[in-house]
This record gives sequence, structure tokens and C-alpha cells, in this order.
Amino acid sequence: MSELKRTKIKNILAMAPGTEVLAKGWVRTKRGNKDIAFIALNDGSTINNIQIVVDKAKFDEGLLQKITTGACISVCGKLVESVGSGQAVEIQAAGMELYGECDPMRYPIQKKGCTMEFLRTVGHFRPRTNTFGAVLRIRNQMAFAIHEFFHSKGFVYWHSPLITAADCEGAGEMFQVTTMDLNNLPRDKKGNIDYKEDFFGKLTSLTVSGQLEAEIGAMALGEVYTFGPTFRAENSNTPRHLAEFWMVEPEMAFYDIKDNMDIAEEFIKYLINYALTNCYDDVKFLNDMYDKELIERLQGVLKEDFVRLPYTEGIKLLEQAVAEGHKFEFPVGWGTDLQSEHERYLVEHYFKKPVILTDYPKDIKAFYMKQNEDGKTVRAMDVLFPKIGEIIGGSEREADIKKLETRIDELGMSRDTLEWYLDLRRFGSAPHSGFGLGFERLLLFVTGMSNIRDVIPFPRTPKNAEY
Ligand code: 4AD
Ligand code: MG
Repeated sequence: MSELKRTKIKNILAMAPGTEVLAKGWVRTKRGNKDIAFIALNDGSTINNIQIVVDKAKFDEGLLQKITTGACISVCGKLVESVGSGQAVEIQAAGMELYGECDPMRYPIQKKGCTMEFLRTVGHFRPRTNTFGAVLRIRNQMAFAIHEFFHSKGFVYWHSPLITAADCEGAGEMFQVTTMDLNNLPRDKKGNIDYKEDFFGKLTSLTVSGQLEAEIGAMALGEVYTFGPTFRAENSNTPRHLAEFWMVEPEMAFYDIKDNMDIAEEFIKYLINYALTNCYDDVKFLNDMYDKELIERLQGVLKEDFVRLPYTEGIKLLEQAVAEGHKFEFPVGWGTDLQSEHERYLVEHYFKKPVILTDYPKDIKAFYMKQNEDGKTVRAMDVLFPKIGEIIGGSEREADIKKLETRIDELGMSRDTLEWYLDLRRFGSAPHSGFGLGFERLLLFVTGMSNIRDVIPFPRTPKNAEY
């Protein structure tokens, strides 16, 4: 039987009856009667299984007994037209080989009744489920689409470092990187930890954003984007936060805030359209299984122009909602940061479409954002999405060295680690803008999953770092 080359199930399902094929994969289900067994086989190439029809008289009973849910097998045989529902073709088994048994009494993935919470405890098996197969294939396609979008526009894929001495967001939510012996830390004369003794000779951390270094790229190559892991030690146990997540960060010379909004909107629509076009089977599966409005919601976003609204106007709408009796858990008022419930009110109740909120108070945004003439707000933009809240955060960048220095001092940040960043304004400065798209937040939207832990193979959250 090994004369034949293995064909992926995705391709087998599109082949004509009569062809001899060799399929390899994991058994999803086995049913039948005393004469015939029907095996649903999946190899991860598609959400769809190939049905294997087994004439039991032709096979060893011991072998057949070992072919249970989860077992890994190889099957060769002729492709025939399927009379049953679901698919066009099925394989009439001529030969079968068992690669790996799967004791049904001990295998934790059962056909029914596995909750998302349970599946998180068996992260080494959950990619074998239909749901995670679909989510992870979509994740793969979206990663590819991101590169395709920027590549087609002539952006340069830029690699910002993961280990850095700069705190981009200034929120102090960084994971330290050290090789020092924590039980015996070197101290300086004042008794402070002496980072000169550390691996890099200074305090370093995992990056919370590749933006600052991407600005170096934009000031040389014009338009760049990063796409990589970012790390945040924020202790937020929410369905939308991870301690390790992936971010896409384009950074563009000569773009003002309007250009920035335009490309953000185009980008996100491109990705959603890509998912509907290239991952339809998987999206449809998730739609039918979990979220009957998923496809409608995705198509809806493509049709709408995103609302563009200053923060101050947004706050007015929220205050009006409170006055009319709408209950929020967190208070609303000019100067406060919006909570997810506020963002979702604007997007889901008020406008019923995505909203780009701009011109936030400078005190709730990072130091690098371009300051507006009013002295109170900055040229920030957050893209807010239904079900998700903030999916993108970005801004035009402050190009005025004086304003930037003042802001850094006001915030009590250290200029030492940012001299190179300030140099970008001292030497050949240019107006520029950029944003960060949270890759897993995008995936939440595209897959309809409700917890961010379920759109990444190995979620890292407070008190959880399995694998
Ligand atoms: O709004 P943030 O913090 O912006 C930045 O980091 C900027 N430096 C980006 C830039 O302008 N280049 O994060 C950007 C996006 C958020 O909108 C959100 O989608 C996602 O990153 N994000 C997270 N996703 C998952 N888990 C977390 N803990 C996240 N924190 C931010
Ligand atoms: Mg943000």
C-alpha cells in the first residue's frame, strides 16, 4: 500500500471518483454495524473529514478494534461516490495500517461535552478538535494575509527586538530579562541591584511593543511593519488580555492621523475579506457551531464606513446614555480611560458599526503621541470593534523634540534609555504615524470565539504557562 503517495484530505475531497488514494490522519469517529464500519478521518488540512468505508470481512478484527476515536491510521483504497450526506466522495478501504492507538478510556477528547475551559487543560490535544483546527487554520491564513497586505503596498517587514531596555508604553508592565542569581543579587554601594553585572550590563525586559524601534525603520525605509510576539505583565484576567500576544505594528513616514486611520480601516477590512474568501469552510463551521451571527457580522463590517469620532464627543454620548438610565460598571467622565463596556456601548448600541475614537486626553495616552494645539489632547486613534472593544491602538507621533522632551520629563520617564529615540527628532525628523493591531483580538473577531485563550495555541496568562 505504500506505493501510493499520501494525499491530504482537503485535496482528496476534491478528487474524482475512481482514483486510488492514500490518506493518513486521526480518527474522529467510528460507527457502523457488524458488517461495515464507517470511519471519519481528519488530517488537519480541512475541517471536513473523509469517510472511510470498511468491509469488516476483509480486515483483521484485532486491527479494527484498535481503530478508535483519536487513533492515527493510514488508509489506501479507491475513491467512490458517496451516497450518504455531507460529502461527494468516500474511500473504500483496501488496506489499513495503525500508526498510533488511542485508548478510549483514557483519551480526554471525547466527541461531545468538552467545554472550552476543559480543553484549555489539555492544550496538547485541543488542536485535534474541530474547533481548534478551524481557529488555528484561520490564524495561519490571517498571518499570511498580513504579510501579503503590507508586501503588496511596498512596506518592509521589520524586526524590532524582543529584548529591550525601553518601555514603549511607559506603563511599567514589563517582564524583566536577567541571568542574575535571584538569591544572590549583586548590589552597588547604595545597596541597589547592580545591573551592570547583569547579562546585558543594564536592566532589560521583554518588549511591550516594537513601535519605538519601528520608528527607526520608518525614518529610513519609509514604511515598515513589525509582526511578532509582545509581552505584558499586566495582571488582567480578562477574556481579552494575554501576557504574551502577537502584535502587528506598521509605522509610516509622511502619514498624518487621517492617513493612519485610512490604512487601518483598509487593513482590517482586507483581513476580514480574506478570511471570508479563503477560510470559508472554517468560518462557516464556527458560525454554525457557536455564533450564528458570525458571518453576518463579518460581512457587515466590510460594508460600513467606520465612524470617526473625537474622544470628547464619545464621552458626551456616554454621559447622555448615563443620564438616560444606562448602567455602566465604571464611571464615565472627560479624562477617564474608556472601559470595554463603554467602547462596546458606542459600537454595539449607539453606532452599530466600528468606531475610530480620536484625540484622547494626553494624560491617559503614551508619551510619544502628537500633541494637539488645545494642550489637552493628543492625536491618538483607537479602533473599536463590536464584541471586542479596542482592536487597534495608534497615533500620529510627536515630531517636535521640545514637546517630546517635556512630556518625557512630566511623566517622570528616564531620558537616558530614550536618547536614540529623541535623536530621530534631532536628525532628519519627519511627520509620521503608526498603529498596533492585536493579532489575537482580530482573531477573536474573525472566529467569533469569546475568550482570547482560545485563539492562540499556548495562552500565557497570570499563573498559567503550561508547555
Ligand atoms: O494600544 P496598545 O497598547 O498600543 C501600542 O502598544 C502601540 N505601541 C501600538 C503602535 O502604535 N504601534 O496595543 C495595541 C493593540 C491593542 O489595541 C490590542 O488590540 C492589543 O494590542 N493588545 C493586547 N492584546 C492581547 N492582550 C493584551 N494584553 C493586549 N494589550 C494590547
Ligand atoms: Mg491601547
